[in-house]
Amino acid sequence: MNTPAIEMRGITKIFPGIIANDKVNFEVYSGEIHALLGENGAGKSTLMSILFGLYAPDAGTIKIRGTEVSITDPNHATALKIGMVHQHFKLVHNFTVTENIVLGIEPRTKSGNLNLKHAEKKVADLSETYGLLVDPRARIEAITVGMQQRVEILKILYRDADILIFDEPTAVLTPQEIDELLLIFQRLKSEGKTIVFITHKLKEIKAAANRCTVLRRGKYIGTYLVKDTDEETLAEKMVGRSVTFRINKKPAAPGEVILSVERLSVLGSRGIPAVQNLSFEVRAGEVLGIAGIDGNGQSELVAALAGLIPIKSGRVMLKGRDITKEVIRRRNEAGFGLVPEDRHKHGLVLDFRVDENLILKSYYQKPFSNRVGFLQFQTIASYAKRLIQEFDIRSGSGSATLARSMSGGNQQKIVIARELDLSPEVLIVAQPTRGLDVGAIEYIHRRIIDERDKGKAVLLVSFELDEILGLCDRIAAISKGGIVGILAAAEANERRIGAMMGGFAH
Ligand SMILES: Nc1ncnc2c1ncn2[C@@H]1O[C@H](COP(=O)(O)OP(=O)(O)OP(=O)(O)O)[C@@H](O)[C@H]1O
Ligand SMILES: [Mg+2]
Repeated sequence: MNTPAIEMRGITKIFPGIIANDKVNFEVYSGEIHALLGENGAGKSTLMSILFGLYAPDAGTIKIRGTEVSITDPNHATALKIGMVHQHFKLVHNFTVTENIVLGIEPRTKSGNLNLKHAEKKVADLSETYGLLVDPRARIEAITVGMQQRVEILKILYRDADILIFDEPTAVLTPQEIDELLLIFQRLKSEGKTIVFITHKLKEIKAAANRCTVLRRGKYIGTYLVKDTDEETLAEKMVGRSVTFRINKKPAAPGEVILSVERLSVLGSRGIPAVQNLSFEVRAGEVLGIAGIDGNGQSELVAALAGLIPIKSGRVMLKGRDITKEVIRRRNEAGFGLVPEDRHKHGLVLDFRVDENLILKSYYQKPFSNRVGFLQFQTIASYAKRLIQEFDIRSGSGSATLARSMSGGNQQKIVIARELDLSPEVLIVAQPTRGLDVGAIEYIHRRIIDERDKGKAVLLVSFELDEILGLCDRIAAISKGGIVGILAAAEANERRIGAMMGGFAH
């Protein structure tokens, strides 16, 4: 066996109230694809941030290619040829691909002017070598999320990284883009790169990784050869109990129409029609799914229903009441609930505490405020305590933790807890389980079905066909801003929905 590319021993990192890494060992051979798996809050991002020099460990040693190092900051990590692609990209949107890539190490001519020609050539060459298909001159704002991620990959390849760390790279990608990324991993590997990637999706681990290290509650559980380990075993190692991958539910008993969307048209960010003449209904006691490839109007549809962007034409009716032009608070009071797809932008106030985020929509009402508008802190505290327990929201200092310092999955649980607990008439959930571990997904799916069974209307927007097929009673496929067709769950399968998503009516 060759010298490990990465050797972390006994790594400990303590944050206020929590041991994020507790004597963790992590060893990755050079040239392997290594998955890092663990529950939400298990300490995966912390461990990789230590490797990239973002945090200093409180104890433990790190060897890179056999040499002991103490990685002081990301520049030092870069010098050690370690690169990291963060879950939230760090790109300047009105710069070109090349301008982003050279940021901080701009090539200059002898007279000191920016020399982009040379950089563009190098970017094009790298893109070619690894099959990334990135246009060096494209502007970031004009390319897809999947392409933006490749720019992040190019950024670290440009700096000669040979250890590449990816923190939940597939969480923001569509299934097609995920397949492409996994191919890119193989190409990077065949060029001799070492890859560490964090994911919650066991299928991806099976498809791409050689070995997998599992963390649970900050502790090292073990490292497994992926080809000899099945998904159930990995899930069990990770959460410490067995996980059911099937959603048990009884047939729906739909009642009256709750949400009615009539000939809706909405413009996208650049003034181009994103949703056109779109109509559907959701009844009490059913889950309607919207299946589609990213960028076909789902985001604009949800934003328009939530009142975040204006509706150009058409109507939205909630229990027979026209709410097309209502402001957001009135919509919420009329019975709208929303789990938005971007938790940082639309779901949380990152510099608020957990309890404050949990009452964001209801703080001004009883029992959280009294008659004259004073917040009732005790009531809020016990409310937060209940939700933290029910939804297993983990953090260092309980309800007083700032959302910003929490792990991605636990941030998501705050948003879901807030919206589900209000039990709205219409619950709109967009990519609700993004970034959640399998145990948390199992629980959230159960709660969504419970809302349905209470007689609420649920609208689920998801890129994950498994999730759509598992939860929905009816499935609408969206393409180019319009509904291609609606299938009852019993008639639906992956192939049929896939064809409809491609624009072919059934
Ligand atoms: N900067 C910080 N300040 C305080 N606590 C932190 C900080 N960063 C992480 N933590 C805590 O450390 C623990 C581990 O967090 P980490 O982000 O490493 O989890 P994770 O395994 O990446 O989870 P997820 O799958 O949800 O992303 C969490 O309980 C988190 O609240
Ligand atoms: Mg994380």
